[in-house]
Amino acid sequence: MSQTQTQVAIIGGGPAGLLLSQRLHLEGIRSVVIERQSREHVLERIRAGVLEWGSVEVLRDSGVGQRMDLEGHVHDGTGIVWGGEHRLSLNTRAAVGRPMMAYGQTNITEDLYNALDARGASIIDSAEDVTLHGLDTSNPRVTYDKNGARQELECEFVAGCDGFHGVSRESIPRNVRTEYEKNYPFGWLGIMSETPPLDEIIYANSDRGFALCSQRNPMLSRYYIQCDLDANLNDWPDERFWEELKVRFPQDISASIVTGTSIEKSIAPLRSFVSEPMSYGRLFLAGDAAHIVPPTGAKGLNLAISDVFYLSRALACFYREGEERFLRDYSETALRRVWGAARFSWWLTNLLHRFPDQTTFDLRAQEQELGYLAQSESYMKAVCEQYAGLPFED
Ligand code: APR
Ligand code: PHB
Repeated sequence: MSQTQTQVAIIGGGPAGLLLSQRLHLEGIRSVVIERQSREHVLERIRAGVLEWGSVEVLRDSGVGQRMDLEGHVHDGTGIVWGGEHRLSLNTRAAVGRPMMAYGQTNITEDLYNALDARGASIIDSAEDVTLHGLDTSNPRVTYDKNGARQELECEFVAGCDGFHGVSRESIPRNVRTEYEKNYPFGWLGIMSETPPLDEIIYANSDRGFALCSQRNPMLSRYYIQCDLDANLNDWPDERFWEELKVRFPQDISASIVTGTSIEKSIAPLRSFVSEPMSYGRLFLAGDAAHIVPPTGAKGLNLAISDVFYLSRALACFYREGEERFLRDYSETALRRVWGAARFSWWLTNLLHRFPDQTTFDLRAQEQELGYLAQSESYMKAVCEQYAGLPFED
């Protein structure tokens, strides 16, 4: 078995793992990223695309903000329409002084790979059978297969950035882990199309279910509609998708939607999930490895970035000053922000979707809440504060 050594072994080369590697490098800390998939596979995945301003600043501060600042779309917030005629704007710039940025996760991942390549970072892709050892000691190890040969990586810390289906969370003994989970009785059917998007990102609560118009760049749009959990992509040719999307928006908005051939189409179920604690011995979880939020509110990527902000700071304080306090507090600190976003995403999901068991009372309550949000400055401010992203703790 061939053996190598590093300071931090990072499991997973998605946005969380790559950003952590980048931030540790800027602090002079060595790391190796171990990814199960090929790089092509990672770069083809289409995910969310709305950044909180705090995330924008972390990416800039990590030296990967150049293309985002050129190509990302800074906007004041997001619209919501309901009842076929009512509308409001979650104007985060007006309410809490922070705009939002539309910039796709696929681009962020690409930017991070480019930054890591430029400095010759160690990234091992297509690693099979990744296994963590000795997490409750000060010399953990990671073993994996690469090109049919078993490899061993000795390290001082393991960062579990390997998403919901990864190995890291499952390596924490079951009796010290608590999982909180909620599954929603519907999914989102999403398409990407090479057509100009609307100026604004708009959510719709309609009597046919939720819908969303989003954007990637001036010639790339992202749209979603709420669908049944057993929906089948074969039943959703583009024409049917566009028709269904348009009837969920008021006439003037649907008239502005430019349709075209989809270049990607997929269905994702909606789930809320949090696993506590986010650390065990020398293992620290970040991103989807520890929590999943439903996409309503676009918090998933932003949470991965805030976890990495806290974890990179904790490791930097440890290596620079021998200060262990931030590592000890990492799980609690990260979880406070995670639960803030988990609660907000759950709330927005409930506000904007049609549920199979919803009564006429529930529907009236949704309408009342949207109407109240539209006319109450203080409620709007509280909602925008969360939509724009809660501040990072010192
Ligand atoms: N070993 C190594 N790598 C693994 C393993 C494993 N056993 N299991 C999974 N991975 C890899 C996946 O292939 C993926 O590339 O870990 C990576 C995790 O990346 P993401 O799932 O993208 O998760 P994360 O980096 O936490 O990003 C946060 O924001 O928009 C949301 O959910 C969305 O992906 C998004 C997330
Ligand atoms: C997206 O652009 O993919 C997107 C936007 C807003 C959301 C979720 C996803 O709430």
